[in-house]
Amino acid sequence: MQTPILKINGFAKHFTLHEQGKKIPSSHNVNLEVYAGELTALIGPTGAGKSSVLKGIYRTYLPSAGEILYRDRHGELVDLAQADEYRMLQLRHEEIGFVTQFLFCLPRQSTLDVVAHPLVVRGESRESARSKAAEMLAALNLPERLWSISPATFSGGEKQRVNLARGLVAKPRLLLLDEPTASLDPVTAERVIGIIEGIKQEGVAMLAIFHHPELTHRLGDRVVELTPPSTLIQTQAINKQEKAVA
Ligand SMILES: Nc1ncnc2c1ncn2[C@@H]1O[C@H](COP(=O)(O)OP(=O)(O)OP(=O)(O)O)[C@@H](O)[C@H]1O
Ligand SMILES: [Mg+2]
Repeated sequence: MQTPILKINGFAKHFTLHEQGKKIPSSHNVNLEVYAGELTALIGPTGAGKSSVLKGIYRTYLPSAGEILYRDRHGELVDLAQADEYRMLQLRHEEIGFVTQFLFCLPRQSTLDVVAHPLVVRGESRESARSKAAEMLAALNLPERLWSISPATFSGGEKQRVNLARGLVAKPRLLLLDEPTASLDPVTAERVIGIIEGIKQEGVAMLAIFHHPELTHRLGDRVVELTPPSTLIQTQAINKQEKAVA
């Protein structure tokens, strides 16, 4: 039997608003597995905590509970919920990619350099990285006249293509995708779907959230449904925890 690249047990995330003394529940009791060459799709209503799971894996957010067991390319098992910052940075550079819904970029950096960046941090020469970036941008239909300017002022759909190109160019072992086709026209969305199918064939493991249920159905090898946290249950649990601490 195949072993998963990623196995999450009992993941939870809540946010503490210190100034208001409140806890906001997000994801709770999330269990899932992701395999090489397969796509696991996360579904659930808005606010169920889908994006928070991806951010927990990438450690944009520090998980509140649970294990995020990742098997790295040397076969070593690492709990991403506990890993130190240095290890996380190394995994982000070398193995784990994240296509977030919103692109963050520096205003003075050209699109080509933004997309080439993940390859440059892996030690590839700027020239070779930029040539691969150009290939990916062409595959995603981004007009060449935009390549030399910064994506800061691009339209939503243009930014999303840059974001996708940057996530896909380095072919990570594990790719996290948060609504990657949400603001694309149907032709470009179809190209992205083709690329996702292609990298799946090459063995990339993906955990993805799709805007359209049809895409979940088409691309998902496994589907994991998240339910919105019940405020009452969560509040009781939090109260218990607080009592235990007090
Ligand atoms: N940084 C944060 N601070 C406070 N609350 C947050 C933060 N990030 C997320 N939340 C809350 O956590 C809950 C889950 O958010 P999340 O973005 O994970 O949902 P989602 O399932 O991705 O929803 P959507 O389908 O709308 O994208 C929401 O109630 C949200 O307000
Ligand atoms: Mg979301």
